[in-house]
Amino acid sequence: MSRPTDRSWPNREDEPLSGFYGAEEAGIRRSVDDEIWSFIDRYLEQHGGGRERLIPLLHRIQEKIGHLPFEVQEYVADGIGLAPVQVYGVVSFYHGFTTTPRARHQLKVCMGTACFAGRSQHVLDALAESCRAAPGGISDDGLFNLDAVRCMGACALAPAIMVGSAVHGNATPRKARRIVNDLRDRAGESAGESGE
Ligand code: FES
Repeated sequence: MSRPTDRSWPNREDEPLSGFYGAEEAGIRRSVDDEIWSFIDRYLEQHGGGRERLIPLLHRIQEKIGHLPFEVQEYVADGIGLAPVQVYGVVSFYHGFTTTPRARHQLKVCMGTACFAGRSQHVLDALAESCRAAPGGISDDGLFNLDAVRCMGACALAPAIMVGSAVHGNATPRKARRIVNDLRDRAGESAGESGE
């Protein structure tokens, strides 16, 4: 398979350095490197091509780099033996796939009244420090999006945080740091497994 020679990213210098496309995006940029092409090659060598491999492979890629850039989709199409438009069709059909850079783990801290009274600001600060992402931003390793949100409807568990779709109640800075460390450890383990 021929690998893309120009994987330059759109020039966003004229866009504000804030939020998702801000300075933090650099972490995502770094995560799309030569390693992903080798990963795809290895996966197809081990599992073979064929349409049935498409969705599992796309999931694995998105787990690794947070989204599915178009050049990666084309490379997958080439390797699996599909037309690029067939891969685009699958990626655009399933809500679980995204072509927009997104962190692997979505962390939300409730700043609603009950949670704020329960010192959720301290939890947010601890998460920001441990995952190295400002609220509203993405961590430099592309693993975490961190957001401060309004009432999540779990006031009885205040202060509450969400990790993906799971609510964690009675959050403390210590628990928050532990969650980030566990997720980071797991990411390291899965990276090791995918390099087998
Ligand atoms: S105020 Fe935080 S869940 Fe309601």
